[in-house]
Amino acid sequence: MTSSLRVDLSGCWLDDYGLTRQQFLELSSRLDEARHETVVTDETLMQSGEIPDEKQPLDGRFYLLPEGLLKDYGESRATSELQAILSTARHLQATSDAVVVLGIGGSYMGTRAIMDSCCEPFFNELDEGRRGGRPRVYFEGNSLDNDSVQALLARLQHQRWSIVVVSKSGGTLETAVALRVFLEALEERHAGELAQRVVPVTGSDGKLDQLSQTIGCEHIFRVPEGVGGRFSVLSPVGLLPAACLGVDIVKMLEGAAAMNKQFRETPVAENPVLQYVGAAYLLEQHRGIDIRILSVWAKALESAGLWYDQLLAESLGKHEVGATPVTAVNTRDLHSRAQQHQEGRRNKVIVNVTTRLTRSDRLTVPTREQDPDELNQLAGKPMTALLEAAYQGTNKALRDAGRPVIDIELESTDAFSLGQFFQMLMLSTVVEGRLLGINPYGQPGVEAYKSNMKSILEMER
Ligand code: PA5
Repeated sequence: MTSSLRVDLSGCWLDDYGLTRQQFLELSSRLDEARHETVVTDETLMQSGEIPDEKQPLDGRFYLLPEGLLKDYGESRATSELQAILSTARHLQATSDAVVVLGIGGSYMGTRAIMDSCCEPFFNELDEGRRGGRPRVYFEGNSLDNDSVQALLARLQHQRWSIVVVSKSGGTLETAVALRVFLEALEERHAGELAQRVVPVTGSDGKLDQLSQTIGCEHIFRVPEGVGGRFSVLSPVGLLPAACLGVDIVKMLEGAAAMNKQFRETPVAENPVLQYVGAAYLLEQHRGIDIRILSVWAKALESAGLWYDQLLAESLGKHEVGATPVTAVNTRDLHSRAQQHQEGRRNKVIVNVTTRLTRSDRLTVPTREQDPDELNQLAGKPMTALLEAAYQGTNKALRDAGRPVIDIELESTDAFSLGQFFQMLMLSTVVEGRLLGINPYGQPGVEAYKSNMKSILEMER
């Protein structure tokens, strides 16, 4: 299937404040090298197991997941991991009105993005029939918020429910404490059924793995070796909850595989990953633009934006470099942030993300007999035409103010498009790290708060 995600850099060619085509051409060979490093060198190093110190950690296997999982599913369906995910999801659907997904950071944000992008808005409020028999999905273990946990526990009291707990290390305190709290409640509600109702997704050792053995969990999934937390959305981490929600995970992987192919095979000038990352990198180097506003033009993509915030910040925010990501949702944030984007400090690039298709019927502005709001002049116009006008108007205003813009266009917010988008941004982050000389994997800074927190709580490390 051909990829229909497009990247347009025409908003970057600005005389005084943007880029020149020449600068881009001069970067081409480095982009090619970074691509080669991502798909060939790193893979060879991982296979050999001899990873030099300066490359440690090297968690680049996310790149292999889409094709690997699909191949296995195509060739040995009955024993494949995708089949296991789908059958566990069916089990959870059959036994649960609600599934609580526990996890934080890379073990949470991608799943949230999938739900918000691919499911109906207000999914959890739909009745069982309208949810297609799929469970409501709630998220916890992503904070230490007393009131939020209490509210969810109260909400679950009269439902049949289960837990999917996701932690690669198995030792993250927020998730582990939430698991303990929710396990108590689950035991009370469904005594004797923990083994079927708790599904861990974790590394092959660690405390969560041990706890799963103690419970005797019937279904356990692994975060694959060599896949970093924030790069794990297309592993069981994101795919299991997605399958519970009825999202077409095969399509999502096909979208990601299509992006991999495009990344590998198309020249720099037509390569969405290299176009995007090349422009973002050059703007930072030549114009000091180190704030990246991911400006999504569909509410459904806000959580995908927040997922990217984590991906970029945690991967490249090291050694005092790395752009600061910010997600904006339009047109909502035209009324809060756009003033600054247009007239504030010249340290921002706007990365628009739009979709060609809506997922439901198109609404039009109705005609009314009385017209005090004078909107009959818009009567019959689809909402999408108004959104398009806002988008064009904003881009023109930004161009007139000499503000660089990168445009990314997705087909829709469905599973295939989201798979493409996830993979594009993961690949871009790795390539950008290579250009900056930053290892995109690992997050040494985050360990400090964890360790301090444990000392304050007088816990054994
Ligand atoms: O990207 C990462 O590795 C982190 O954001 C982790 O996903 C996050 O800290 C949660 O870790 P774990 O899955 O080990 O509980």
